[in-house]
Amino acid sequence: MLSRLPSSLLALTLASLSVVHAFNFDIRVRSTFNQHGLHARDNKSSIPVHNTRNAEYIANITLGGREIPVLLDTGSSDLWVTGQVPNTKDLGKSVSVNYAVGKAGGDVNAADLDFAGYHVSQQAYLLVNDTSSFSMDIKSQGFEGLIGLGPNSGSVILDKLDDDTGNSVLNRIFSQNTTSANYLTLLLGRESSVNQSFTGQLTISEVVPGFEQIVQMPKLTVETVHRLTDEDQHWQVYTDANGVIGPDGQPIQVDSIVPKAPDNQLVTVFDSGYTLPQVPRAMSDMIYGRVQGAQYNEDAAVWTVPCDQMLSLSFMFGGVEYPIHPLDLVSSDFNMVDATGNPVCVGTFQPITSAFSLLGEYDIILGMSFLRNTYSLFDYGDWVNESSNDRQDPYIQLLSVTNKTQAHNDFVQVRMNGVDTSNAASQQLLPVSQMQHSPISEAEKKQMYEEEVLSRWPEIFVGCLAFVLIVAGIITWRCCVARRRRRAREAQQAAAMGINTNGGSGSPAYRIVNGQSSQVDVHEMRTKNQYDSPYGYKTSEV
Ligand SMILES: *[C@@H]1O[C@H](CO)[C@@H](O)[C@H](O)[C@H]1NC(C)=O
Ligand SMILES: *[C@@H]1O[C@H](CO)[C@@H](O)[C@H](O)[C@H]1NC(C)=O
Ligand SMILES: *[C@@H]1O[C@H](CO)[C@@H](O)[C@H](O)[C@H]1NC(C)=O
Ligand SMILES: *[C@@H]1O[C@H](CO)[C@@H](O)[C@H](O)[C@H]1NC(C)=O
Ligand SMILES: *[C@@H]1O[C@H](CO)[C@@H](O)[C@H](O)[C@H]1NC(C)=O
Ligand SMILES: *[C@@H]1O[C@H](CO)[C@@H](O)[C@H](O)[C@H]1NC(C)=O
Ligand SMILES: *[C@@H]1O[C@H](CO)[C@@H](O)[C@H](O)[C@H]1NC(C)=O
Repeated sequence: MLSRLPSSLLALTLASLSVVHAFNFDIRVRSTFNQHGLHARDNKSSIPVHNTRNAEYIANITLGGREIPVLLDTGSSDLWVTGQVPNTKDLGKSVSVNYAVGKAGGDVNAADLDFAGYHVSQQAYLLVNDTSSFSMDIKSQGFEGLIGLGPNSGSVILDKLDDDTGNSVLNRIFSQNTTSANYLTLLLGRESSVNQSFTGQLTISEVVPGFEQIVQMPKLTVETVHRLTDEDQHWQVYTDANGVIGPDGQPIQVDSIVPKAPDNQLVTVFDSGYTLPQVPRAMSDMIYGRVQGAQYNEDAAVWTVPCDQMLSLSFMFGGVEYPIHPLDLVSSDFNMVDATGNPVCVGTFQPITSAFSLLGEYDIILGMSFLRNTYSLFDYGDWVNESSNDRQDPYIQLLSVTNKTQAHNDFVQVRMNGVDTSNAASQQLLPVSQMQHSPISEAEKKQMYEEEVLSRWPEIFVGCLAFVLIVAGIITWRCCVARRRRRAREAQQAAAMGINTNGGSGSPAYRIVNGQSSQVDVHEMRTKNQYDSPYGYKTSEV
């Protein structure tokens, strides 16, 4: 998400652990395979989305004639690929992006692109020539690049090229047909031995057949970050007030770190590049800390719980409840074991640490474990300049695809060997007084203090500006007073000598210029801070 490629892959580090632990997945052929998928194949812009172990969602693009599987990432805005691309043109600019699993560096190129039934000529992208610092072999994970589906303003390539040729893929597609609606939809499948009546799909400017109801859902207006930090803009909205309902059926109350957030509402980013949703630590503790046998694993920074623990969690957006499938809340996808070697499952709603927003721009990142439960529509609205319609603010629509009753039954089949033990004593939550809390590291405490200061940067900026203006004002005023006094004295003397002094004296003007130039300094300093501090990921030039 968060910020370009980096954070997206960050979340994969946990997933890649599982590769080491020799994965043993039970992937059954689904008997209900699937009407939606077959229908959609006839639709030119509905393409299948491949699921790698519930940890990566991948679709094919064709770039310069080569078919390339790329990770779908609503949390970043650039396209990058590895390997050879035929018919590509080097644009002579190098970009390097650092992220948790390594550094993606190379040259900005342009080549013809086909994606989801649309053709774009000379799409700018990053041709990564050096993958030596990747901590995992992405090809073995099933992808050879990444497509950012976030707002254009977050594009590093656009920033580098600084003209329309650097626009992101979706911006290019939406700009081609100014009368089509500017939206993308995403339907993510769940890989486990559960019946699911659909497979993953991605569409542009049309809806997956059978899911038309999505356009009736509430339009959740995207919450925008400050204009000066629009590089950090993501697909983010407010939850409803008290809009996160925990396993005990009660709202989980956590204060937002976003200064402008209304009471009891949290800013939530939707990021298909994140395997594990990132939530405030107190929220993660409230979800898993009352489970019998729960343990916090400090190395992996996740809660582990018994695999047969059935939990519930719902999010409320626009007055609609979106339940999370219990298989998505307690995941067996990571092959973890406890100290005695027994298998344990991962509490997927992970305390947010490395993706914590130092600028206080969001509270929660909802990744794949959430997005599998909704069919999601992302409307870019006026983020696309060239459209003649669809000029409203960007918005998100979510259609729940998880039925609580069916999800309960799925869990009983998959994790309880078909015998519903959800009422057993071992499944009951501990009383609040016995709830466990995960430890907060010193680094995390420091982050929180920093956030409290940095998130108020607009106020601090305005405060500094006001201070500079007041100081400049006082200096100017004192000069004027001094000048007037001097003039008055000179006039008196001149009058005494018979000389006319009108039109002299420029020194106060220089004072004003000085005052202005120091405002500019403050402005530039703040702006640089904005871009440097978030998340610790920096783009740098090679
Ligand atoms: C991508 O293309 C390859 C080769 O044609 C195909 O085997 C694979 O299934 C495709 N993947 C997706 C997600 O469509
Ligand atoms: C990758 O490209 C950059 C910029 O063109 C170049 O400096 C670097 O040597 C290349 N690295 C490799 C491994 O080819
Ligand atoms: C543009 O989009 C509209 C609405 O989706 C569609 O009717 C029209 O055929 C499209 N035009 C082109 C040239 O694709
Ligand atoms: C394509 O999708 C639309 C709905 O978006 C549906 O009405 C139409 O029948 C589909 N076309 C085909 C050939 O399946
Ligand atoms: C859209 O328009 C705004 C204001 O006119 C401009 O600053 C911005 O660069 C434009 N964006 C694109 C992608 O053309
Ligand atoms: C959920 O599924 C059950 C059993 O299949 C069905 O009876 C119920 O109507 C469904 N609920 C909703 C809200 O669709
Ligand atoms: C899966 O579908 C089959 C056939 O439709 C049904 O018999 C079975 O109960 C379903 N399993 C689950 C876990 O829902």
